Amino acid sequence: MEIKKVVVPVAGWGTRSLPATKNVPKEMLPVYNKPVVQYVVEEAQGAGLTDVVFVTNRNKTIIEDHFDYNLALEDVLKRTNKMDTLKMVHDVAEMVNIISVRQKRQLGLGHAVLCAKAAVGNDPFALMVGDDLMFGMEPGIKQLMAVAHSEHMPVVGVVEVPSDKVSNYGIIRGDEFAPGMYRVRDLVEKPKVSEAPSRLAIVGRYILFPDIFEHLENLSPGHGGEIQLTDAMKELAKSNRLLAVKIRGQRFDTGDWSDYLTANIYFALQDETLRDDLVQRLKELLPYKG
Ligand code: UTP
Repeated sequence: MEIKKVVVPVAGWGTRSLPATKNVPKEMLPVYNKPVVQYVVEEAQGAGLTDVVFVTNRNKTIIEDHFDYNLALEDVLKRTNKMDTLKMVHDVAEMVNIISVRQKRQLGLGHAVLCAKAAVGNDPFALMVGDDLMFGMEPGIKQLMAVAHSEHMPVVGVVEVPSDKVSNYGIIRGDEFAPGMYRVRDLVEKPKVSEAPSRLAIVGRYILFPDIFEHLENLSPGHGGEIQLTDAMKELAKSNRLLAVKIRGQRFDTGDWSDYLTANIYFALQDETLRDDLVQRLKELLPYKG
């Protein structure tokens, strides 16, 4: 079983990130020196995924353009002998093959995945949510691919969240069959703290099989006419066909301002030319009480 394709939905409105996202897709907001979605594609590439299916909309074509050549810009960089920058810009266009499909109405993450059905075909595929960043020793999605490969089953990525955050997430009820690996028995969407079956929250990394499309097609639209991926995952769990893997590493939901800003600092601190200056500036800001 070889997984080569990854679906990356990027068609949402990003209302939590307004007004920044009025005209700029939230997946194109920079985290330090790269747009959010470039980190996602780098993670996919690091896991050996070669074909990226963007689920996009009419206002998001700059996402595909980012992974294409910009020959006019490359000419300028050549002429001005900025060879390192030239390489950086050029290499982004060579990372992966891009396939683009349209989600014509924003009817939720489940609907976005369904829009990729024809592009995915009959093989298992990865799904990486375009605004969720994961960093660790090993690409997050690769940790799931290894388990899907050995167990021949769909796998969802989870992270442990503090109890006051469980009500923001889909939370799993599962049996741990190996360290950090669970057979999922049920999923509860945004539970109250008192009703949460665990603190294991579903994050934007999945390995799915084509049977997910049947489940999605059979769902009746939920709140706001949306088709929820979680509801289709529930069906998988009901038939004992879903595993969860606790992803090791840092995770940032860039649709959340606190996570977004922390991600910027996390990356900037890794740049030696910036670190000392940045630490100094942050120290100066910390006593600030507003
Ligand atoms: P979110 O729920 O975080 O995105 O979806 P959103 O709806 O854009 O943002 P808010 O909540 O209004 O701020 C996670 C990912 O799924 C995509 C989004 O682009 C994002 O990358 N998505 C969401 C779609 O592609 N289509 C949809 O209908 C909804």
